[in-house]
Amino acid sequence: MELSHLYHALLALEMCFSVIMVLCNPVSLKGNLDSSPFPSSFLFGTASSSYQFEGAYLSDGKGLNNWDLFTHKPGNIVDGSNGDVAVDQYHRYLEDLNLMNYIGVNSYRFSISWARILPQGRFGSVNKAGINHYNKLINTLLLRGIKPFVTLTHYDIPQELENRYGAWLSPEVREDFKYYADICFKHFGDRVKYWVTFNEPNVAVIRGYRSGLYPPSRCSSSFGNCSSGDSENEPFVAAHNIILSHAAAVDIYRTKYQKQQRGSIGIVMNAIWYEPISNSYEDKQAAERAQSFYMNWFLDPIILGKYPLEMQEILGSDLPVFSNHDQKKLKSGLDFIGVNHYTSFYIRDCMFSVCEHGPGSSKTEGFALRTALKDGIFIGKSTAVDWLYVYPQGMDKIVTYIKKRYNNIPMFITENGFGENDKSDSPTEESLNDLNRVEYISGYLDTLAAALRKGADVRGYFLWSLLDNFEWTSGYTIRFGLHHVDYATLERTPRASAIWYKQFIANHTSPQEFSA
Ligand SMILES: *[C@@H]1O[C@H](CO)[C@@H](O)[C@H](O)[C@H]1NC(C)=O
Ligand SMILES: *[C@@H]1O[C@H](CO)[C@@H](O)[C@H](O)[C@H]1NC(C)=O
Repeated sequence: MELSHLYHALLALEMCFSVIMVLCNPVSLKGNLDSSPFPSSFLFGTASSSYQFEGAYLSDGKGLNNWDLFTHKPGNIVDGSNGDVAVDQYHRYLEDLNLMNYIGVNSYRFSISWARILPQGRFGSVNKAGINHYNKLINTLLLRGIKPFVTLTHYDIPQELENRYGAWLSPEVREDFKYYADICFKHFGDRVKYWVTFNEPNVAVIRGYRSGLYPPSRCSSSFGNCSSGDSENEPFVAAHNIILSHAAAVDIYRTKYQKQQRGSIGIVMNAIWYEPISNSYEDKQAAERAQSFYMNWFLDPIILGKYPLEMQEILGSDLPVFSNHDQKKLKSGLDFIGVNHYTSFYIRDCMFSVCEHGPGSSKTEGFALRTALKDGIFIGKSTAVDWLYVYPQGMDKIVTYIKKRYNNIPMFITENGFGENDKSDSPTEESLNDLNRVEYISGYLDTLAAALRKGADVRGYFLWSLLDNFEWTSGYTIRFGLHHVDYATLERTPRASAIWYKQFIANHTSPQEFSA
């Protein structure tokens, strides 16, 4: 393909040029930096996760995890695919670091594969090859001037723990997570200064135990098609164990490591902006409830030591209770909040008003119906991704909401990005000239800047994602990358959005200095 050759030639040329600039021009070309709302320490990066990127699913002693098993079962993934190879970042990270250096990011968010470090959880030995792999990745990142921002688990758990005791449904899992976290802090914490315990535990428990769409595929018949489960109880039990696992990991970090290693630790939530569908008191309260039953469900206990009041009132005995000992451990149980924000929905009250049955309308979801439509008009431009509506104002609104509720605890936007439906393997001009993605990112960064100007303490932004990759149950049918990936050859080709992001970063930072 001529086009892709041209891109690669340009890429190589630009890369040499960037290196020469850095080596020969220590004086920063500041330009309009003074008016930039992004502080000089701001992290600009891209985000990824082990299952979606690494591949190498049985290489070098890795154990099976829940997603390996789930994807290998026919019918679970729309295109019948899996993450066995994914984009093979396990073997191709040097190439991907070149792409990152070209864009000029100063940070990379990735996750460690738990089963690569502990193939049998705490019931087996540490896999040295797994430790070596992440040591190489971390060291190379640092050599390239890119700070590692590391998630301990991004939906994945060794299958051994699912088989032994039902993973997140059992309090036993807290011991396993603590054991795993300790090993990661011990081996990598001298160099990793940003730790995330969990990625989107709200999505993991809702899809794993309410709708059953993700492993371990558990739900009641009125919520999905599973062989067993209890959609009105298990999500809350799993969430409770995750919250206490988070607290245990943070406790280990703070008591054993943080003083010497001087890093910070947080959790990443999926954060949707919920706009009341009308100005009525009931709909406004419902939008508040929707946040409580989705995001505050985890953040309130971790930061304030208790579940949101609305949840306690509506769920009663379905909601587990924290002991006094738990509560003491929980309060102020993080250093930063990670925010994955992509989309917004309207919320209609279903508690005081009669409303149709639909997403969010049940008691277990807080009687708050989610809809993208108001008077027949979408909240924002709809996209190829069924849950993704383009509503840039949502970024400012959700960041401002979190800032107020949690007293402006430092935040990172740990994910934001735009997905497209594209099944073609060889990159077409149309797929590379992704102006819809540029428009999306540009709009969301503008409103993030607005939130920063109003005083929100946001310290970084990670775009999802550097590359097209395995998009969970959508397999490879949805593409989120700044680079197109040809899944037959695994060749990466930059899209217009990669060039745009490079320029945006250059416009808002001083030229980066490589640290040896
Ligand atoms: C439910 O799952 C079973 C087994 O996987 C399948 O045979 C059946 O068609 C599914 N039913 C629906 C309504 O999707
Ligand atoms: C970067 O700054 C230049 C000069 O002000 C401007 O023309 C360009 O649109 C900016 N690009 C981005 C992506 O912000």
